[in-house]
Amino acid sequence: MSLNIVIDCDPGHDDAVAILLANKLANLKSITTVAGNTDLANTTKNALALVEFLGADIPVHSGADQALAGAVRNARHVHGKTGFGGTNLPAAKRPVASEDAVNHIIEQVKAIDDLWLVAVGPLTNIALAIEAYPAMANRLAGLSIMGGSTGPGNATPAAEFNIWADPEAARAVLTSGLNPIICGLNLTQQFLSDDDFVEVLATADQPVPGFVAELYRYMHDRMDAIIGERRAALHDPCAVLVVTHPHLFELTDMYVDVELTGELSRGMTLFDQRRTLARTPPNCRVATKIDADKSRSLVLTTLLDYSSSSSS
Ligand code: RIB
Ligand code: CA
Repeated sequence: MSLNIVIDCDPGHDDAVAILLANKLANLKSITTVAGNTDLANTTKNALALVEFLGADIPVHSGADQALAGAVRNARHVHGKTGFGGTNLPAAKRPVASEDAVNHIIEQVKAIDDLWLVAVGPLTNIALAIEAYPAMANRLAGLSIMGGSTGPGNATPAAEFNIWADPEAARAVLTSGLNPIICGLNLTQQFLSDDDFVEVLATADQPVPGFVAELYRYMHDRMDAIIGERRAALHDPCAVLVVTHPHLFELTDMYVDVELTGELSRGMTLFDQRRTLARTPPNCRVATKIDADKSRSLVLTTLLDYSSSSSS
């Protein structure tokens, strides 16, 4: 029986790979979009265009265009103004299924048994859904999040982008009693793409692997400009693989909270890693290790399985 998944995302290069993996490795029921890497109009446009490019029948519902506290952040310096920098997918003909992602998430949780929510953007939609439907915690098979870090951040020295973009939403979700799986930078930076990864995809000469090759050629150009290295963490795919292939990961129960008021540390995820008895009771499952070699093979095999005829 394949896993039922709804992905909440801000496509975004790595979001696109997460969607492609979930579409093959699970039963991807629907996609909800949130502002993050770029504005909501673009994240939604990208999700619609990707689904249509695949020829997949997956509805897209758009959600929050700003954080709970009103901020609007972006990561255009990494993903480009459109959010799919380096590519040029045709605009989708199919319109967005609704502009009420929050209500859609609630309806999906109520309707689908054994549903996993995979959140790979700012957590605004998820926080609003939990606030409106607290019983979600009793219905969901689980919540898997790409976000936070047990170490340094990326958006700031202290904070990872998805959490930094909406810290209030992140605190609400991470302390909601949902006991989420958290794939933070400490995990995702163990799982890197490189030019060989791109080459394998490009030489397949197939539309979908070719699209991902274009995405990551651009991403490597950006990372070369930013950090001087032609490689990028496959952040969002980790949040899917930890659900579909848990044996490739090690998890540790921890307590986490989110800094909201620190002048320098707002958006920081503070994990209690103390070994003392005094440590706070755990409220999440932190992914601490990934089998990067097996995960890389799995991602490449799955992406190459998208021949020009098969979309699912
Ligand atoms: O920090 C990495 C996260 O921020 C990923 O989800 C990426 O897509 C960006 O949203
Ligand atoms: Ca993302």
